[in-house]
Amino acid sequence: MSIQWFPGHMNSAKKQAEEQMEFIDLVIEVLDARLPEASCNPMVDRMRKFRQRPILKILNKTDLADPAATAAWKAYYDALPGVTAYPMTTKKPADVARIPALALSLAPHRGVPTKPLRIMIMGIPNVGKSTLMNALLKKRVAKVGDEPAVTKVQQKLYLDKHTVLVDTPGLMWPKIEMPSDGLMLAASHAIGTNALIEEEVAFFLGDVLLERYPQLLTARYGFKTEGLDGIGVVEQVAARRGFRVRGGEFDVEKAAHVLLHDYRSGAIGRISLETPDSRSARIEAHRAEVAEKARIAAEKAAQKAEEAARGKRGTQAAPE
Ligand code: G4P
Repeated sequence: MSIQWFPGHMNSAKKQAEEQMEFIDLVIEVLDARLPEASCNPMVDRMRKFRQRPILKILNKTDLADPAATAAWKAYYDALPGVTAYPMTTKKPADVARIPALALSLAPHRGVPTKPLRIMIMGIPNVGKSTLMNALLKKRVAKVGDEPAVTKVQQKLYLDKHTVLVDTPGLMWPKIEMPSDGLMLAASHAIGTNALIEEEVAFFLGDVLLERYPQLLTARYGFKTEGLDGIGVVEQVAARRGFRVRGGEFDVEKAAHVLLHDYRSGAIGRISLETPDSRSARIEAHRAEVAEKARIAAEKAAQKAEEAARGKRGTQAAPE
């Protein structure tokens, strides 16, 4: 099973973001702290590198993420050139309030009233861009006249007299190369699914929880996790909650829905779906799988070609 996501308006949004990049000083990319790389679009980094703009990667929703994983991601991103990570939650006004000063420190040549720092907020759907913008703009000072004429067509949203947001969030879409990214994005609700896929997503989540947070499963639902797999987790949720369909079978659909809902709301606990280490292990496994598929396909193609050549030789050799 593979989840894909190709909205038709992706190209025009990309073009718009590329154009805006020229007129901004700093990119703020909002990521989901529970799945930072799966919730990032690599195009953002390519665009900002092309224009040599620094980037502030906001690891948002830390209230839902595993603090140890978030600390590992911060160290990982801070080690990359031009990148600064800021773990935060829009639920804490103090976290939001630190952003303008942090942003200014990343582009020190800007930030005077005649040269305000120009920021673009980018990110895939549901990571919290709008919530963040609204929280930031509570401090809005409407002094649009101070802005030098850079892009007159665009409305400027002032955070304070030193900092201005371009008005449209740079909406990007996840680039799903690995099937596990699609599952993580669906689990965290960044992309929608139908009921059938929801079960697959819940099985995947069950596997992740078993591997990394078995004690949280036991604490929430009261079952032992030894010997279970992802499907077993969902069945145990059904068993514990008494979700059965007619005939006595487990109501897996309902249990899948409950598991996902509990995860998304934080009811199971603070859970990160990936860490820098688990990410590199997944990438390696994915590459090995792709290489193996390519090897099998090449072998099949060679076999077919050989059979075709043999058939041709046979026809040519056959007497009239
Ligand atoms: P977007 O513009 O990037 O698409 O995201 P938006 O601000 O609309 O936020 C998406 C969801 O994430 C919203 O919940 C919002 O309340 C929630 N959210 C934003 N920041 C945080 C945070 O720091 N912590 C937590 N826990 N939630 C945050 P929603 O409308 O209920 O959507 P959903 O979560 O049910 O999908």
